[in-house]
Amino acid sequence: MPGGAYYEFSSKFVLFLAQISVTGLAYFNPMENLQHNHPPIVMVAGMSKGDRAIGKNNQLLWHVPADLKRFKTLTMGNPIIMGSKTFASILQILGKPFSGRTNIVLTRDQDFLYEGVKVAHSLDEAIALANAENPTEIHIGGGAELYRQFLPLVSRLYVTWYFDRKDGDAFFPEFENEFFIEKEYPMEEYKGVAFQWVDYKRK
Ligand SMILES: NC(=O)c1ccc[n+]([C@@H]2O[C@H](COP(=O)([O-])OP(=O)(O)OC[C@H]3O[C@@H](n4cnc5c(N)ncnc54)[C@H](OP(=O)(O)O)[C@@H]3O)[C@@H](O)[C@H]2O)c1
Repeated sequence: MPGGAYYEFSSKFVLFLAQISVTGLAYFNPMENLQHNHPPIVMVAGMSKGDRAIGKNNQLLWHVPADLKRFKTLTMGNPIIMGSKTFASILQILGKPFSGRTNIVLTRDQDFLYEGVKVAHSLDEAIALANAENPTEIHIGGGAELYRQFLPLVSRLYVTWYFDRKDGDAFFPEFENEFFIEKEYPMEEYKGVAFQWVDYKRK
């Protein structure tokens, strides 16, 4: 084979090998189906600046009206996927599921039923249920277990940093290295506790 033709053949062969490795990687990547064909997956979460504590004894650590209002504004009209523990804590606080939003509860309990609520038993089932609504965003409503599992799929985080030391038993996962600050709001204070909203976007 003349030198030029040989070079052309071997570079095409290398390209072919690269293509099948990429296709192979996509085929064997278990997150592949979760990463495509859905609107942005986002999270709204309030946590302590020191250790990212989000809750204790299945309850929130802070009840700041302005923050609860912001949560409502950001999530309204979109589906919210939450763990069964967070859902139980919502029922304690509100006495009912979130209104104006499709509530999707993730549980391994095959018998779980709650009127007006959709139930999923896996992450991809939860995303498929949310996707069926044709939403602009899919919200992950917590708690710690769900934040940890869904974080790799999230494109945006709406964080409330609380400059407060609380003894939590549920924590938001470390995320700072994977996201950059998109917008920082001015510091605010409620009953002596300083807090700040910071929006993050995946790098
Ligand atoms: N600060 C905030 O912004 C914020 C927001 C939300 C929640 N929270 C706090 O977070 C805490 C609760 O968090 P948590 O981690 O204990 O509980 P969680 O994430 O709310 O719920 C965990 C439950 O979700 C189900 N689950 C988790 N992964 C699953 C999977 N892959 N497939 C099927 N089911 C799955 C299981 O339910 P089953 O046991 O029923 O099978 C599991 O026990 C509370 O303190 C709450 O107040 C804070």
